[in-house]
Amino acid sequence: MSGKSVAVRIENLGKTFDRPVLSGLTLDIHQGETFVVLGQSGTGKSVLLKILIGLLPPDSGNVEVMGESITQASDERRREIRRRFGMLFQTAALFDSLTVFENVGFSLIESGMPPVEIRERVSSRLALVLLSGVEDKYPAALSGGMRKRVGLARAIASEPPILLYDEPTTGLDPVTSAVINRLIRRVQRELSVTSIVVTHDMVSASYVGDRMGLLHEGRMRFVGSPADFESCADPIVRQFIRGEAAGPLSEQWKEDES
Ligand SMILES: Nc1ncnc2c1ncn2[C@@H]1O[C@H](COP(=O)(O)OP(=O)(O)OP(=O)(O)O)[C@@H](O)[C@H]1O
Ligand SMILES: [Mg+2]
Repeated sequence: MSGKSVAVRIENLGKTFDRPVLSGLTLDIHQGETFVVLGQSGTGKSVLLKILIGLLPPDSGNVEVMGESITQASDERRREIRRRFGMLFQTAALFDSLTVFENVGFSLIESGMPPVEIRERVSSRLALVLLSGVEDKYPAALSGGMRKRVGLARAIASEPPILLYDEPTTGLDPVTSAVINRLIRRVQRELSVTSIVVTHDMVSASYVGDRMGLLHEGRMRFVGSPADFESCADPIVRQFIRGEAAGPLSEQWKEDES
């Protein structure tokens, strides 16, 4: 990976609420990779995502997005830099009163793109997430997994170079999770995006991740490939893997491996 250009550079990040959440977090996310941030509940994964997109200021440290500091930018500049990110929220967060077409095309309509181009873009994005032809439906008529895919289509509608996924498979059944995992890989491949996936689902992490990092006590305890994680002897890493891989999801892992 040496020599790869850096999409997001995280330097010495610190954030304290009633207790320290991030302390000295340093990490480079490479252009075009899918990086998975693992960590137990409450370790600061969502706080990290909010700092990356400039919604939350860190107490110390710096975040550079494609070479430009979002941490030190003016409010106006920060909003501009934020547009480089597409986000898939945990709840999909669709507008219930808008159709799928309006949901996916929302930012394009706002940007003043010609309607013909918006139609084309929305339909190509829906095709990418394997949901062609649902443009006129309302979110209430869709299953949870379909809503998640519409959320993904919306996140990639404006062609952002960096995608953030907050717990993309949490709360989904194993079959639907596997569909979402394949789509994350497909989107990365076809759109050449950089992706950051926050999850505590080890199955998903191993499937989608080029590299993964375990957030522990405010910094990256271990960073490496899925295989590196598998063979890592650090007791904190082992404990996390054992804890997360135990249970019904490990069955799905076996299926995916075969
Ligand atoms: N705005 C806030 N004000 C005060 N404390 C906060 C705020 N946001 C987050 N925290 C605290 O920071 C810690 C990390 O929260 P965060 O939501 O990042 O955890 P997480 O790793 O995303 O957990 P989960 O896996 O459950 O989503 C928690 O202790 C949380 O209570
Ligand atoms: Mg969270």
